[in-house]
Amino acid sequence: MMKTAREVNEIKRAHVVDGVLPIFHHRWSARAFADREVSREDLRRVFEAARWAPSSYNEQPWRYIVGTRGTETHKKVADSLVPFNRSWAQRAPVLILGVAKARFSHDNSPNSYAVFDLGAASAYLVLQAAALGLTTHQMAGFDREKARKLLVIPEAYDFGSVIALGYQDEPERLANEELIKRETQPRERKALDKFVFGEWEKPLGL
Ligand SMILES: Cc1cc2nc3c(=O)[nH]c(=O)nc-3n(C[C@H](O)[C@H](O)[C@H](O)COP(=O)(O)O)c2cc1C
Repeated sequence: MMKTAREVNEIKRAHVVDGVLPIFHHRWSARAFADREVSREDLRRVFEAARWAPSSYNEQPWRYIVGTRGTETHKKVADSLVPFNRSWAQRAPVLILGVAKARFSHDNSPNSYAVFDLGAASAYLVLQAAALGLTTHQMAGFDREKARKLLVIPEAYDFGSVIALGYQDEPERLANEELIKRETQPRERKALDKFVFGEWEKPLGL
């Protein structure tokens, strides 16, 4: 039997670990987006969260191009996506392209942490969105040169992800069985022992 959005949220929710902020376990990347707009207030809140991410030299290299449904920007971001991503993400009411300024402002030297810092800001953004009852889905699957051309992004900026933002819908609204399967599968993560070391590849044993 088809699972409901509420049941899917239960499947996707990670096991809560005492003392860890619940939002980390609660956030997941949906592909079924409801036909419901995101308010300007909530949009402002998610970018306010991104704003306070730390960055190398406090450069704040991130820039976000935001397309709300019905705008040229939304269409251009959607057109830049690879067909698989476009098939479901074009229904999201907000499509956001994140880019990062590749050189430091204070001395014009290369900032090799620019996209890293953009990632931190985007992590803040998606967690804030989850706290507001919104869902997000980041995508690397888009044509960068097409996006650069369509959205007139200067060469001095490197690409991060496209972020689909909106409200979760019932999985049955997705176009095919494969998407429904992905939407209703439990999430998986490596155990801490696989990536937290005391010495190289020797688990710290937390
Ligand atoms: C930088 C980045 C790029 C991603 N690219 C895609 C993508 O192109 N298409 C897609 O369907 N999901 C994409 N994802 C989503 C991941 O597959 C997803 O975050 C991962 O499977 C963990 O699932 P969760 O976010 O639900 O915990 C991307 C996620 C990130 C952070």
